[in-house]
Amino acid sequence: MGAQEMKFTFLNPTKLVFGHQSSSRLGEELKALGVKKALLVTDQNLRARTRIPETISAAAGDLLGGIFSEVIPDSGIEIVNRGAACAREHGCDGIISLGGGSSIDTAKGIAVLLTLGQADISPLLGFQTVRRPMIPHVSIPTTAGTGSEATFVAVFKNESLGKKVLLTDDHLHPQTAILDPGLTLALPPDITAGTGMDAASHAIEAIHSRRSNPVSDGLALQALRLISGSLSACVNDGQNLAARGNQLLASTLAGIAFSNALVGVVHALAHALGARFGVPHGVANAICLAPSMRYNLKAVAPRYALIAGALGISPENRSDTELAVKTIEWVEKLLSGLPIPRKLRDIPIPREALPLLAEDALTDTSIYTNPVKITDPAELEKILQEAW
Ligand SMILES: [Fe+2]
Repeated sequence: MGAQEMKFTFLNPTKLVFGHQSSSRLGEELKALGVKKALLVTDQNLRARTRIPETISAAAGDLLGGIFSEVIPDSGIEIVNRGAACAREHGCDGIISLGGGSSIDTAKGIAVLLTLGQADISPLLGFQTVRRPMIPHVSIPTTAGTGSEATFVAVFKNESLGKKVLLTDDHLHPQTAILDPGLTLALPPDITAGTGMDAASHAIEAIHSRRSNPVSDGLALQALRLISGSLSACVNDGQNLAARGNQLLASTLAGIAFSNALVGVVHALAHALGARFGVPHGVANAICLAPSMRYNLKAVAPRYALIAGALGISPENRSDTELAVKTIEWVEKLLSGLPIPRKLRDIPIPREALPLLAEDALTDTSIYTNPVKITDPAELEKILQEAW
């Protein structure tokens, strides 16, 4: 594409506070945003298994107004609504989110309801439905994958439809993200691997997206450089603080990239697998990533060749297509060393379910920015068969 044809906008309003023990700065960051009373939104698991919520509550000090810890994996609309009611009961004027993507996304939904003075998130699902500055939200991720701490999107499960639904808005980004690698040290290897592959999928999808741009490319390529050097290290030694820091950064950078460039078929398939079968988001992405790249290869070989450069794969005299194939092989090699399922049949997903999953994925909004336009569910079934 020539410079004269290039048009894009790029948005990243989230302040990033990175560093070991940076979460101790929570009180200062809340104060800087003018928060008087913050609701801490976190998940049951984190509260049951770690002392992280206590540490973060202490860091918020007298600015902590209440705790809402009802978030579950793939949190739904009901939980968002209950969280907003809880914030009102406690008179909260700001939100702290602590946890993985579900906690951060639930907090985004609660922030929307408080901002608009509404009680139900259902009618607000969709695109650009808030359209005004939001109440302060400080996000503290405890996984390195979702990138939600710096994106304009929240994903919820619609229990009655059995589908994942999106809320996006240019005001949805948390105002501040505190990236404290120490909070990710206790993640078990399988969660580290799955969430890490979610970040890798965000970066690769941002690069092959129809809406990619030079700024998101730069962030996504840096994310992939960090992942190639650190994901396996984090899985093999969870206490490797430097590698944990790299993964956390990679996740945020990839999040900012896809928040602008959007994603593609990998996420469309992962959303269907998550909603129908409860497959963890990162695992679903990991399994669908290489088959989807092979499908897209015909349209975006030069884009995948760009990734090969970031990964340090020697160009020698290779064509773009050869370099793209090397990039896909890198994805497969990375996955083969991780403690997560390699194929849909290992989960297990029944083969008979693939047509239904293809139908679901065809109506997922992520499909619109896939580099190859897909309008026939049979095309998606082909990818799913390869992933099966
Ligand atoms: Fe994702």
